[in-house]
Amino acid sequence: MKEQMIEEIIKLKKERNAIILAHNYQREEIQDLADFVGDSLELSRKATEVECEVIVFCGVHFMAETAAILNPNKIVLLPEIEAGCPMADMINGEKLKKWALQYPDASVVSYVNTTAEVKALSYVCCTSANAIEIVKAVPHKRILFVPDKNLAFWVMKNIPNKEIIPWEGFCPTHFMIKKEDVIRAKELHPQALVVVHPECRPEVIDLADHVASTSGMVRFAKSSTSKEFIIATELGLLHRLKKENPDKHFYPAKKTMICPNMKITTLESLLRALREMKYIIKVPEEIRIKAKEALDRMLEIYKPQSK
Ligand code: 13P
Ligand code: SF4
Repeated sequence: MKEQMIEEIIKLKKERNAIILAHNYQREEIQDLADFVGDSLELSRKATEVECEVIVFCGVHFMAETAAILNPNKIVLLPEIEAGCPMADMINGEKLKKWALQYPDASVVSYVNTTAEVKALSYVCCTSANAIEIVKAVPHKRILFVPDKNLAFWVMKNIPNKEIIPWEGFCPTHFMIKKEDVIRAKELHPQALVVVHPECRPEVIDLADHVASTSGMVRFAKSSTSKEFIIATELGLLHRLKKENPDKHFYPAKKTMICPNMKITTLESLLRALREMKYIIKVPEEIRIKAKEALDRMLEIYKPQSK
C-alpha cells in the first residue's frame, strides 16, 4: 500500500512536472520522497531556483505562501490547507500597522514565519538562519521585530548596539522546552553538546553550546568532532541528523517536541495534492509585489551557508 502510493506520487510528479520541497520537520516518509529538504531559508532560496511547473510544498502555510510570492508563474501546492503556523497567526497586517504608528523612525523586520500581508508591510524578512546578519545590515537603529520574541531576544543579545523592540509572539512547540529539560538531558548525557533553536526561551538558549536554524544544526553536527548531541528543536529534525550522521548520537531535549501542523501532511495528502492539484496557494498581486521586495532584500543581503 505504502509502496504503491510512493510509486504513484513519483509517476504523477513526473507527469505534472512537479518538484517536492519539504521542511526539516516533516514526517520521515515525506522527507525521504522530497527532491529537497531544508530549513526555511534554504527552501525560500530553492523556490527561486527550481525549474518546474508545480512546486508541492510539504510544510506549513507561510512556507508555501513564500514560494508563491517568489514564483508568480508556477503553481504552488500546499497538500494540507489546515497546516498553519500558530506563531505566524500571532500578528496580522492591521495589528502591525497600528503598532508601527507608535514608532515612526523604526523599520520592521519580519521573521519569515508571517503572512504575506505582514511581509508586505516589512522592510526586510529574515529566518532563524540569518536573523543576526539581516538585522546588522538594516540601516535603521531602531527595529520592530515580528512576531517571535525569543528570536528577537537572541538577535538583541548578539547586536547590543541596536534598539530591537519585539512583538509578543512565540512558537508553542519551542516554548515547551524548559531549562530543566536541558539540564536533565545533560545529566543523562554529560558528553553531549547542547544544540538549541533560537525560537527557544532565552534561558534555554543560555545553556547552548551552539544556536542554529534546523539546517544549521545539521551542518554543526556534521562538522563537529563530538559524537553526541542534545537537540532542542522539533523532533522531525532527528531523522535528517541520524540519516546524515550514522556514527553519531542525537538525544531530544524533550521527547514531546512535536509541531502538530508540520505532521498533518502524510503520503495520502501528498498523493491527493498531485492527483487533484490542490491546494493552490496564491497571493493577491499588490500584496505579493510588496512582500517580494522584503523577501528579495533578505535574499540579496544574506550570503548562503555562512551559518
Ligand atoms: P528553520 O527551519 O528555518 O530553522 O525554522 C524552524 C521553524 O520553526 C519553521 O517553522
Ligand atoms: Fe510554527 Fe513553531 Fe510549528 Fe515552526 S515549529 S511551524 S514556528 S508552530
